[in-house]
Amino acid sequence: MKEYSTEGSRKLFEETKKYLLGGVASSFHKSPTEEYPICISHGKGSRLYDVDGNEYIDYVAGLCPMLLGYADDEINSALREQLKKGTHFAATTPELVRLSKLLCEVIPCAELVSYQNSGTEANMFAWRLARAYTGKKKIVKFEGQYHGWSDEQKVSIDGGRIEDVGDRDKPERIMTTPGQRKAAADDVIVIPWNDVSVIEELFRKQADEIAAVVMEPFMCDNGPIPPLGGYLESVRALTEEYGVLLIFDEVITGFRLSLGGAHELFGVTPDIAVFAKAASAGFPLAFIGGRRDIMQCGVPASGTFNGHAFAVAAAIKAIEIYKRPETYKNLNEISEYFSAGLKELGKKYNVPLISEAYGGLVTLTFTKADRIADFRDWLMYADVGRYNRFNELCKKHGIRLTNKKGRLCVSTKHTKEDIDRTLAIMDQLFGMIQ
Ligand SMILES: Cc1ncc(COP(=O)(O)O)c(C=O)c1O
Repeated sequence: MKEYSTEGSRKLFEETKKYLLGGVASSFHKSPTEEYPICISHGKGSRLYDVDGNEYIDYVAGLCPMLLGYADDEINSALREQLKKGTHFAATTPELVRLSKLLCEVIPCAELVSYQNSGTEANMFAWRLARAYTGKKKIVKFEGQYHGWSDEQKVSIDGGRIEDVGDRDKPERIMTTPGQRKAAADDVIVIPWNDVSVIEELFRKQADEIAAVVMEPFMCDNGPIPPLGGYLESVRALTEEYGVLLIFDEVITGFRLSLGGAHELFGVTPDIAVFAKAASAGFPLAFIGGRRDIMQCGVPASGTFNGHAFAVAAAIKAIEIYKRPETYKNLNEISEYFSAGLKELGKKYNVPLISEAYGGLVTLTFTKADRIADFRDWLMYADVGRYNRFNELCKKHGIRLTNKKGRLCVSTKHTKEDIDRTLAIMDQLFGMIQ
């Protein structure tokens, strides 16, 4: 197989670095292990094209929003219609009313919704609401789960070594960036995920101080790691028993795992759920949905661009498409086909791995372990080095995967032929990572 030449990307990265901090718009756009990121010229459907004219079958999906693939014709035509009317008014529009109604229909926990522009902001709003509603201060979050980049959120989220995370019953709160105020996380309690006994113990001691438990119901930002059977149900029951709110961060899982998010898929309804990414299929629209009494407890939603008309137009069209009966049927079929192919390759080349399929998400974790249940397992047993090597090889041969994390995003545009082609390329690459 011939390797791609990406000299154009290299040159542009050198040029960009002169003007743009780090040469990228977000630290997530370049892995610390890669010399330079691929510079994208355009995308269509399941494909991306770089400035050197190379074509990639894409599984990054713009860090998850692009559930409908790139440059979707229906989204584009909705945007053209909106463009004629204007892009931003900082006012209510009939389209905003329509979207809000649609969201309350399709999201099980949403009696009311409220808008922001990013997952970070929407999570900040949800945490504030929980504190206002309960009159309590502490927020429980889980190791390895990312909810945004603010001082209070970016705690114990990533990387690191197992030696740094502290005892299981007393985890360290790990700050992740210079300039972050440690005191900002004073009211954040960090615990391991997927273990009911940890929450039970914590609630027995401290429930009267805890406003909310915040979790990705399916851990996607690291891992990915599904919830263990019964875990979500048990946490739901405990939060109700102890008067603590349950917030699901569905920024990745929302619309990707199923129309009503992970909480619909797993049948466990939180008090508040946070959505972004695929909600607007490529535009910065985020929202929270939740119980009416909580949503109405007096916290205003601020933000110039909240309910931006362009993002709203895209979101209405995206949700109309998601609602079609064939959408998730096809996504599930394609993802299962892909995951089965990955497992076959693992067996063929004796490369141990875990892979599962849920809606538009396929997981790929190289590991000898039978199961990975939380961030500590992931740090200890996931072979991230092998994944990084595999990712580098994929990139050189026309397949784009997410950096470090085995989160493969399938879109409605991926066909069985795309997956066959991907697996045929990977068939050759697996031999190189044995
Ligand atoms: C689970 C989760 N929550 C929140 C966020 C933050 O969203 P945003 O990047 O839109 O601020 C992310 C981003 O990747 C995420 O994965």
